[in-house]
Amino acid sequence: MKAAQTRVLTARWGDRGSHTIAASLASGGYEALRKALATPPAAVTEMVKVAGLRGRGGAGFPTGVKWGFIKRDEPPTYLVCNADEGEPGTFKDRELMERDPHQLIEGMVIASWAIGAAESYVYCRGEFAFAARRVERAISEAYERGTLGRNIFGSGFDHDVILHRGAGAYICGEETALLESLEGRRGQPRVRPPFPAQEGLYARPTVINNVETISCVPHIVANGPEWFRKFGTEKSPGTKIFSVSGDVERPGNYEVPFGTPARVLIEELAGGITGGRKLKAYTPGGASSTPVFGASKLDVNMDWESVQAAGSLLGTGAMMVFADDACVVRAMERFMRFYARESCGKCTPCREGTYWLAQIMRRLEAGQGRDEDLDLMMDVQANIGGRSFCALGDFATAPVISVAKEFVDEARLHIRNKGCPFER
Ligand SMILES: Cc1cc2nc3c(=O)[nH]c(=O)nc-3n(C[C@H](O)[C@H](O)[C@H](O)COP(=O)(O)O)c2cc1C
Repeated sequence: MKAAQTRVLTARWGDRGSHTIAASLASGGYEALRKALATPPAAVTEMVKVAGLRGRGGAGFPTGVKWGFIKRDEPPTYLVCNADEGEPGTFKDRELMERDPHQLIEGMVIASWAIGAAESYVYCRGEFAFAARRVERAISEAYERGTLGRNIFGSGFDHDVILHRGAGAYICGEETALLESLEGRRGQPRVRPPFPAQEGLYARPTVINNVETISCVPHIVANGPEWFRKFGTEKSPGTKIFSVSGDVERPGNYEVPFGTPARVLIEELAGGITGGRKLKAYTPGGASSTPVFGASKLDVNMDWESVQAAGSLLGTGAMMVFADDACVVRAMERFMRFYARESCGKCTPCREGTYWLAQIMRRLEAGQGRDEDLDLMMDVQANIGGRSFCALGDFATAPVISVAKEFVDEARLHIRNKGCPFER
């Protein structure tokens, strides 16, 4: 039997004009907001806690717990929606904004009610021109219909949403660099503590949540936390949108309950490997998931705990798929160049380490590598992981571990062969 998606966040995607407020209202949009505004804010936060919603930005931090850190009695507080989506292979937030921006806005107003924020921001990746226009248009529609602005639904709650476009830096997805950028400074991470919940935007208590996380909120409020928990696993409840790309017949975003095996996503929903080839490797959670999985990990269940138990990280759920004639060393060299290019330069381990690792991986792929390069790479990465200012440095160890540990035979073949053994 062919696997089907479980459409919660993506339910409106197939509808004509799904991005408009008319379509949203016609299918129950903003009813959850009406309900939330008639519920005490602390009870809304509690609902999100009980639902077990976890952040979809990569780390899986419990959303209700994050909201609970905010001291509501010390206004102003802020909500910031992280729509920077720079993780290689990830494209779910873009489609959520393009196809259902009102779901996001509704979630933002509910979250803002819960934490007492009169103003919230969408920090949108600069390259997402179309998504940004759609969100901007949706914000104006929401003001026209009174689902944003003054005295929403006669509740006495006022709320404004402001869209801000980034300028194409991966580091600006890191929440504290994002806040720096939003305040008009160079996007570099801040020292923690203080955490954003204590001193975030303009040094005020701030919640930062990913687009997909916030898009779950109206569904939890509308249907209740128990309903949400019916999907997924005990520790990873709900559905997740996986971005499947690379050597598959039908690349795209697929929404399934957490815990769905990778095989179902790759072989059934995405239509399997192109050209009748076989699977060689896939990233379970974007370029930053350590390490990439080989074909033996095709039956891993896609939830935080199972992916971690299998030795990697779920990250953003971006599954980049490589067929058996693809070169993993080349792919990882490409990822490494990305981290070296995107390192913000603030701390030495990341700035210098990513540069050197990119050099070593380039010569390895070019057939100029030496046996000792594999140990050297592991040594350099050990001096970045856990020692850099923010997690970008930790992420940059992923390609090295993938090559020097998981696909070491392929790396050695490059050295022996004095060149890349793959034609593609
Ligand atoms: C280098 C780097 C880039 C990141 N990029 C993003 C991003 O593009 N989008 C995102 O939501 N989170 C990103 N994050 C994670 C955020 O710092 C933060 O944890 C997240 O926005 C919190 O939202 P959540 O709790 O809803 O997951 C990034 C983190 C790092 C270290």
